[in-house]
Amino acid sequence: MRCLLSLVIVSAASLMRSVLAAKYEQYILAPSSRSLHPVSVYDVNGTVTGAESLTGNQLGSAVFEDASAVTFDYEKGIGGVVSLIIGDVSDTDQYIGITFSESSLWISANFSDATHDAGNDEALWFNPSGPGVYTVPRERERGNFKYLTLVHNTTGRLEVTQVTTHFTSMPHYAEDQLRNYTGYFHCNDELINRIWYAGAYTNQICTIDPHYGNALIFLGIVNSTQTITGSLPWYSNFTITNGSSALVDGAKRDRLVWAGDMAIAVPAIVVSTNDLISVRNSLDSLFALQNTTTGQLPYAGRGFFPIYSATYHLYTLIGVADYYLYSADLEYLNSMWERWKFAMNFSLGFIDESGMMNVTSSADWLRFGMGGHNIEANSILYYTINQGLLLAGVMNDSSVISSWQAYAAGIKASANRLLWNSTAGMYRDNETTTLMPQDGNCWAVVANITESPEQNRAISANLIERWTPYGAPAPEAQRAVSPFISGFELQAHIRASNVSAALDLMRLQWGFMLDDPRMTNSTFMEGYQDTGELHYAPFTNDPRISYAHGWATGPTSTLTFYVAGIQLLSAGGQTWRVSPALGDLTSADAGFETSLGVFSATTTVDGHGGISIHFSAPAGTMGGVSVPYPACSGQMTLREVNGKCEDVVVDVVAQENVSGRIEIEGLVGGDWDVQFSCS
Ligand SMILES: *[C@@H]1O[C@H](CO)[C@@H](O)[C@H](O)[C@H]1NC(C)=O
Ligand SMILES: *[C@@H]1O[C@H](CO)[C@@H](O)[C@H](O)[C@H]1NC(C)=O
Ligand SMILES: *[C@@H]1O[C@H](CO)[C@@H](O)[C@H](O)[C@H]1NC(C)=O
Ligand SMILES: *[C@@H]1O[C@H](CO)[C@@H](O)[C@H](O)[C@H]1NC(C)=O
Ligand SMILES: *[C@@H]1O[C@H](CO)[C@@H](O)[C@H](O)[C@H]1NC(C)=O
Ligand SMILES: *[C@@H]1O[C@H](CO)[C@@H](O)[C@H](O)[C@H]1NC(C)=O
Ligand SMILES: *[C@@H]1O[C@H](CO)[C@@H](O)[C@H](O)[C@H]1NC(C)=O
Ligand SMILES: *[C@@H]1O[C@H](CO)[C@@H](O)[C@H](O)[C@H]1NC(C)=O
Ligand SMILES: *[C@@H]1O[C@H](CO)[C@@H](O)[C@H](O)[C@H]1NC(C)=O
Ligand SMILES: *[C@@H]1O[C@H](CO)[C@@H](O)[C@H](O)[C@H]1NC(C)=O
Ligand SMILES: *[C@@H]1O[C@H](CO)[C@@H](O)[C@H](O)[C@H]1NC(C)=O
Ligand SMILES: *[C@@H]1O[C@H](CO)[C@@H](O)[C@H](O)[C@H]1NC(C)=O
Repeated sequence: MRCLLSLVIVSAASLMRSVLAAKYEQYILAPSSRSLHPVSVYDVNGTVTGAESLTGNQLGSAVFEDASAVTFDYEKGIGGVVSLIIGDVSDTDQYIGITFSESSLWISANFSDATHDAGNDEALWFNPSGPGVYTVPRERERGNFKYLTLVHNTTGRLEVTQVTTHFTSMPHYAEDQLRNYTGYFHCNDELINRIWYAGAYTNQICTIDPHYGNALIFLGIVNSTQTITGSLPWYSNFTITNGSSALVDGAKRDRLVWAGDMAIAVPAIVVSTNDLISVRNSLDSLFALQNTTTGQLPYAGRGFFPIYSATYHLYTLIGVADYYLYSADLEYLNSMWERWKFAMNFSLGFIDESGMMNVTSSADWLRFGMGGHNIEANSILYYTINQGLLLAGVMNDSSVISSWQAYAAGIKASANRLLWNSTAGMYRDNETTTLMPQDGNCWAVVANITESPEQNRAISANLIERWTPYGAPAPEAQRAVSPFISGFELQAHIRASNVSAALDLMRLQWGFMLDDPRMTNSTFMEGYQDTGELHYAPFTNDPRISYAHGWATGPTSTLTFYVAGIQLLSAGGQTWRVSPALGDLTSADAGFETSLGVFSATTTVDGHGGISIHFSAPAGTMGGVSVPYPACSGQMTLREVNGKCEDVVVDVVAQENVSGRIEIEGLVGGDWDVQFSCS
C-alpha cells in the first residue's frame, strides 16, 4: 500500500524565487523601491502651503513660513536615511528640522521618540545655504518610523520640493528582490493573513547593515533614574557583526544581536524570506564572544555589556540547532560542534543536587524574579539538551549521549516534583513562590517537560483564563503583554491540541498590534501593558519602546508549521511531516523553500467532516501526512498526483471515543492529494 522508494541524493535546487511569493503578493509590505516618499499628510501647524505636494514621488513645493511644521505619514513602518530637496530660501538663516516617530503617540516638532530609558531623541537640523539636496549622515538613519515631521523654527521662508527616505533594511538584497519572498501563506481569515505578512516584514525591517548597529550610545549612562531636560543626541554607527547584513532585535533600538529574540524571528524568516545569511552573521557574532575559559556565551552581541544570562546563553545554542535544521549546512554544524558542547557543559554545571539548574543571573527577556530553580530556564535547558542529542546524532558523537540524557531526565522529573501544582494545573516559577509565570508554563509545554497531555491541556486552559481584551499577560513581568513569550504561548496551545486558542490569541493580541491607531499597521512591537496602555513594564520611558521587534513575529512560523502544517523533521526537510490543523479556519495554503526545494500544503475542510489536502515536497525527501481523525465514516484516499505510486486507501469508521489523527508514513517526496468526504 505504501509508496516507499529508496532515497536519492538531491542537489541544492536553484529555484525561481519569484514563483512562490507572486501567489499572494498583494499582502507583502516590503517596498518595491528603496526610495520612499511620504504617503499622506497627517498634520500641519503654522503656515505651510503645498504640504500635500510632497506625497508621492513627484517633485512638489511646500513652503514653510515662520514657525511651522508638517507631519507626514508613510502609512507603515519604514527605516532609512532621509534626504530633502530644498528649493528657495528667503535667507541663509533658515533651519529645517526632522523628527521621527513609530507611534502616533510621540509625534512632535521638538524631538523624535526615544532610544534611551530617559528623555527623547533630538531633531536633525539643516541650515541650507541655498537650493540643493541635503542628506542626513548615514549614522543618523532611523531604523523604524511611520511619521516624519519637518519643522521650520525661524521667521522667513523655506521651500522643500521632495522628501525621500532611502530604505536601508535588507541591505544585501537588490532593490527588486525586497518583495521576492520564498514563502507564502493564505487562509480564509484576512486578519490572520495580514498578521503573517506583517511578521515577515517586521523581520525584514530588523535586518540591517551591521556597520550601523547599536543605537544605545549612552548605554549605562542614561537610565530611568534620570530626568532629561531637552533631548539627547542619537546615532547608530557601531559595527555589530561581520558580513553585510545582520538580524537584530529592534529596528529603532537596540540594533543589537540578541539570541532570545532570534528563537522566534529565525523560524519566521525561514518560512518567508529564507534569509539565512543574516542569521548566520548574527550567530557568529555571539560565538565570537564566547569565553574561551568557561564556554560562556554573551547575553547580547558586540556593543552590549558583558553580562551572563542563563536563558540567552541557551538560546544561542538553539540558534545553531535551528540554523542547521533549516539550512542543512553540515559544514557549519561541524565547525560549531566543539564550541556548542563547551557552552552546553557550562550550562550543565549549574545543575545542582535537585536535578535542576540553579539560575544565578537575573538577565532574561526583562522579566522579574529570574533566579533559583526557575521553570522557564529549566524548560529551555531541557529543550536545548534534546536539541543537542539530535545534533550529536548527526555528528555521530556518542560521547555526550548518556550523560545528556540523564541530565534531561533529571530536570524533567525534578521540575514536575518540585514545581508542578496539580491543584492549579500550572507550574510555579520556583520553589519559594506561588507565582505561576507565562514564560515557564509555555516553555514547559513547548519543551515537553510535561509528563502528560492532561498537563498540557490544563496549562493551555489556565493561560486562556488570563487573557485580557489586549492579550496574554505575563505575571512575571508586572502583567506586561510580551509578544515574545506569547509567541511560545501560541505553540503551547497547539501542542495542547487547541489550535483555535492559538488563532484567537493571534487575532486578539496581534490584531491589536496591527489595527490600533497608535501602531504602525505593519510591524509588531516589543511589549505593552495588558490594559492596552502602550507602556512596557521594564521601561519607564514609553517613547523608547520599539514598534518593530523580531521577537514579536511568532504567528508567522506557527501558521506555516502548525496550522498549514508543513514541518521539517530533519535538516533542510530531508524528512518532513504534513500535519494541517486548521482550528476554526476552513482553508490554509502555505509554502516555503529550503536548500532542498519547495514544500507546500493546501488544505480545505467542508464543515461536514470532509477534508482535502494537496501537498508537495522535493524529490528525494521522505515524510508522512497526518490528518485529523474525521467525525464521520468514509474512505480516505491518498494519491500521488503523477501516478508513480499506488493509491493508499484508508477506511475510516467514526466512533465517539476515537479522536486524534490518522498518520501515514513512508511517503516519497512529490505531489500528493488526500481526499476524504463523509459517506
Ligand atoms: C501641532 O499642534 C498641536 C496642538 O498644539 C500639537 O499637539 C502637535 O504636536 C503639533 N504638531 C506638530 C507636528 O508640531
Ligand atoms: C516645543 O518647541 C516649542 C517651540 O518650537 C516650544 O514652545 C514648546 O514648549 C516645546 N515643547 C516641549 C515639550 O519642549
Ligand atoms: C532653530 O533650530 C536650530 C537648530 O537647533 C537652532 O540652531 C536655531 O537657533 C533655531 N532658531 C530659532 C529661531 O529657534
Ligand atoms: C524579483 O521578482 C521580480 C518579479 O517577479 C523579478 O522581476 C525580479 O527579477 C526578481 N528579482 C530578483 C533579484 O530576483
Ligand atoms: C543611572 O545613571 C546615573 C548617572 O550616570 C548613575 O549614577 C546611576 O548609578 C545609574 N543607575 C543605574 C540603576 O544604573
Ligand atoms: C559614531 O558617530 C559619532 C557621531 O558622529 C562619532 O562621535 C563616533 O566616533 C562614531 N563612532 C564610531 C564607532 O564610528
Ligand atoms: C572568562 O571567564 C573567566 C571566569 O569567569 C573570567 O575570569 C574571564 O575574565 C572571562 N574572560 C573574558 C574574556 O570575559
Ligand atoms: C522565585 O520566583 C519569584 C516570583 O517570580 C521571584 O520573586 C523570586 O525572586 C524567585 N526566586 C529567586 C531565587 O530568584
Ligand atoms: C543558587 O545559587 C546561589 C549562589 O550560589 C545560592 O545562593 C542559592 O542558594 C542557590 N539556590 C538554590 C535554590 O539552591
Ligand atoms: C497551588 O495552587 C493552588 C490553587 O491555585 C494554591 O491555592 C496553592 O497555594 C498553590 N500551591 C503552591 C505550593 O504554590
Ligand atoms: C513528551 O514526553 C513524554 C513522556 O513524558 C513522551 O511520552 C512523549 O513522547 C514526548 N513527546 C515528544 C513530542 O517528544
Ligand atoms: C492597514 O493596512 C492595510 C493593508 O495591510 C490596509 O488595508 C488598511 O487600510 C490599513 N489601515 C489603516 C488604518 O491604515
